[in-house]
Amino acid sequence: MTDAVKVGFVPFSGAPGGVLAVFCDDQGEFGPNTRKVLGSAVAMIKRAAETNEFKGKNGAVLDILAPEGLKTKRLIVVGLGKFAELKENDFLKLGGTVAGKLRTGRDAVTILAESPKGAMTADQAAAMASGLRLRAYKFDRYKTKKKEGEEKALRADISIAVADVAAARKAFAPSAHIVDGVITARDLVNEPPNVLFPVEFARRASQLRKLGVAVEVLDVPAMRKLGMGALLGVAQGSTRPGRTVIMRWNGGKRGDQPLAFVGKGVCFDTGGISIKPAGSMEDMKGDMGGAACVVGLMQALASRKAKANVVGAIGLVENMPDGNAQRPGDIVTSMSGQTIEIINTDAEGRLVLADVLWYVAKKFKPKFMIDLATLTGAIMVALGTEYAGLFSNNDELAGRLIKAGLATGERVWRMPLGPEYDKLIDSQFADVKNTGGRHGGSITAAQFLQRFVDSTPWAHLDVAGTAMGAPKTDINQSWGSGFGVRLLDRLVTDYYEPKR
Ligand code: BES
Ligand code: MN
Ligand code: ZN
Repeated sequence: MTDAVKVGFVPFSGAPGGVLAVFCDDQGEFGPNTRKVLGSAVAMIKRAAETNEFKGKNGAVLDILAPEGLKTKRLIVVGLGKFAELKENDFLKLGGTVAGKLRTGRDAVTILAESPKGAMTADQAAAMASGLRLRAYKFDRYKTKKKEGEEKALRADISIAVADVAAARKAFAPSAHIVDGVITARDLVNEPPNVLFPVEFARRASQLRKLGVAVEVLDVPAMRKLGMGALLGVAQGSTRPGRTVIMRWNGGKRGDQPLAFVGKGVCFDTGGISIKPAGSMEDMKGDMGGAACVVGLMQALASRKAKANVVGAIGLVENMPDGNAQRPGDIVTSMSGQTIEIINTDAEGRLVLADVLWYVAKKFKPKFMIDLATLTGAIMVALGTEYAGLFSNNDELAGRLIKAGLATGERVWRMPLGPEYDKLIDSQFADVKNTGGRHGGSITAAQFLQRFVDSTPWAHLDVAGTAMGAPKTDINQSWGSGFGVRLLDRLVTDYYEPKR
């Protein structure tokens, strides 16, 4: 939701009032500007550090109220650990650590972006600013009252003191758009399913037009005309009609083939006739996490005017059981012409993706195509909630994703595909069936998708464990994490500007 944290950059100057955050390394050393600001308070800080066994290890915090000898009301000392070992992503986390310590209040906050080795670089300060905003996000749109003691959304003016203000602002400009994209994705995942159903989701995606994104919304008759029988089979059990949304950002060379991103947008997944048990079914409002990521990504790319041609496509449905719902045993014909026997109506995501992947592959002939989907519970059994599952028919693309994952901290772990798995999804009545039994559930799901990408270089990210309900981190306290926006924005950047 709207974050009320304003982050700006200022030059180093004298001791500020309000809240002050500074950094020290694992030797308890401060940088020269920090020492100047702290003055004689350094001795007191050393004493406080000793009392609290604060040793400056990375992410550790020493929180001193009303520090003697400073006009600052509160001093937050954050440990850097070994500064030379820190990577870009660590600065994001440091920003998150600082934001995690701030409480709502009128006090202005100043952060001295300095290590014992001197001022942090513009990129490091920008990463910190991103981390601050990502951590401060809170979805409280539907809270009319605040309970006593409940953490309120952070509202603060934060100034990051840096050596080169103009350089830091320039470095942060694109990152701020990426953060906005993450926040959009989180908002979409957190929204309740009575508010965010396919038509409303399509309306929100259409708002990207303001940023110069071409948005096309396919309604049910349009999808019927295209022959999207797999997606429509899922949608038919809901009174709320499905949609497919195609978003195009053409910031690259004219006529250059696009990159494509495809998202599973099941706005609510009851399981359909193969209905899910009641426990935690409310979480299935997040079954559109893949689509949310694609919208957030398109927003980030368009806002930062990425020099890239990109297609984002999302299949939006609600998987409901009603008199018109599809049954186990039904056979549907996908847009590709392949027939699919429905074994379990709860394996609906792959049906939606089958048609959207085929449509995108044939219509846009992308250089590569990556889908994101909260596809299987089995991926959480395999990988937990730290890594998204990565499946790909292309080693180079898989390598790019792994690299972008390590750089952004949105990590992916490659899982196998192979013709051996095909027999698990061969159907006795149709070309393919939509489930493959208990074993290797994430793999057979991916193997199913592969039948709908033809020879397009393709990767599938199973984000069931990472897009929603993942453990809280330094930079995310929200149920909907926005996973994938930073990862894929980085992938696009690295694709067109390979440097780092
Ligand atoms: N949306 C679910 C997968 C899921 C489960 C995402 C839990 C996040 C948390 C998906 O549509 C589904 O129901 N998958 C089934 C597949 C099975 C029927 C083959 C599953 O994982 O059990
Ligand atoms: Mn399902
Ligand atoms: Zn689902």
